[in-house]
Amino acid sequence: MQTIPRDPSLDSTLDVVREGFPFIWNRVRGLHSDIFQIRLMGQRTICLHGPEAAQLFYDPARFVRTGAVPRRIQTTLMGKDAVQTQDGAEHRCRKDAFMSVMTPQSRARLMRLLAHEWQAAAEYWAEQEEIVLFDEAQEVLCRAACAWAGVPLPNKDARRRARDFWAMIDAFGGAGPRHWRGKRARTRTEDWIEGIIKKIRKGKLEVAEGSPAHVMAWLRDADGEQLSARMAAIELINLVRPIVAIATYITFAAVALHEYPVYKGLLRTSGDEYTEYFVQEVRRDFPFAPFLGARVREDFTWRGCDFKKGMLVLLDVYGLNHDPRIWPEANVFWPDRFRHQTISPYNLIPQGGGHYDTGHRCAGEWITIETLKQAVTFLNTGITYDVPAQDLRYDLTRMPTLPTSGFVMRQVRPTG
Ligand code: HEM
Repeated sequence: MQTIPRDPSLDSTLDVVREGFPFIWNRVRGLHSDIFQIRLMGQRTICLHGPEAAQLFYDPARFVRTGAVPRRIQTTLMGKDAVQTQDGAEHRCRKDAFMSVMTPQSRARLMRLLAHEWQAAAEYWAEQEEIVLFDEAQEVLCRAACAWAGVPLPNKDARRRARDFWAMIDAFGGAGPRHWRGKRARTRTEDWIEGIIKKIRKGKLEVAEGSPAHVMAWLRDADGEQLSARMAAIELINLVRPIVAIATYITFAAVALHEYPVYKGLLRTSGDEYTEYFVQEVRRDFPFAPFLGARVREDFTWRGCDFKKGMLVLLDVYGLNHDPRIWPEANVFWPDRFRHQTISPYNLIPQGGGHYDTGHRCAGEWITIETLKQAVTFLNTGITYDVPAQDLRYDLTRMPTLPTSGFVMRQVRPTG
């Protein structure tokens, strides 16, 4: 039996807060091991790193999600008892519903709605002295996501609803006021969307068959029971809120275009494939999810190390995307790496790994990539703008993190 290296700290909870995104990655390098143990809030916890460990982590025979997501994250980011926390038949049933709205036609409809919103936003921005891209992108995404989902959103409410979606996301690594803001935003949003689910069920609101609102309103659980209106609302929010979250990557993409202007020309001349490399590099290089948690289903041994039933296991997301064994010159923003890099379900995991249908991999990864490609093209060719001096640094100890200024743009003019 091999012993798993142990982090010398008695309890690592404060180190996670102090170090943030690179917490696991720092120890992988320090302990020279892709697997090590820590104590987290007093619990014995195993940390895993690397594609092979990711493959293990995504084996549903080894791990469950029940009991892995802390309550404070369920009551802000994702909602209580949502798909992210389900296993087995119940997970499969809900995940099928999520994947049913990810067809090419459904995604194309979202892209058309987004194109319209970006255009309208550009005209509004042209009348402003300056705008903050992160704030504006959230609103663009929120309007298009609600229209796509079948959620009526009066014009006057768009900004505050977008803020609430962001507050839920912003709470995931926060404590105190940030946590409470996220919780209040979640209650408000669940109340709002539950009302919509009830109207659909009573026939007072018509939504297109197969649209996200329709799918979630009529979804039955694995035992054939209709989801409660609250649960259906939580899952419908799980389709709108993460689209608003793409504002983060769009802001990072704008920073990359600004800091590495060489790519502006390449993006113009090298076509769609190159835009995809650029977007993949944004998702690889810029931080969003730090790590993911699961619990051991039954005792097993892996590489001579004992995993005990119920133990918490964390998979390193940030570190895997920055490991030079997989990504040469990992700290350099270099889209061209994707010309040659083979992508497996386990080596590029900003939105989780494994398989969409059978595992917990992000249901919205294609939407994220397509939305980002469209946004990058819009920023590069759909408008012109100046970038005044500002603080574009981001803090790796804050989760989620963002360029400090949110990316201020001046003199925005649509090109069309
Ligand atoms: C799950 C990240 C966008 C819907 C996840 C997971 C991560 C993630 C890390 C967890 C994977 C796991 O537990 O193994 C992101 C990021 C996004 C994004 C960084 C963009 C900023 C989206 C979009 C949608 C979406 C656009 C839908 C429209 C979901 C759903 C799950 C999920 C439903 C739960 C899947 C499951 O438990 O089976 N996402 N996501 N996400 N995401 Fe995303």
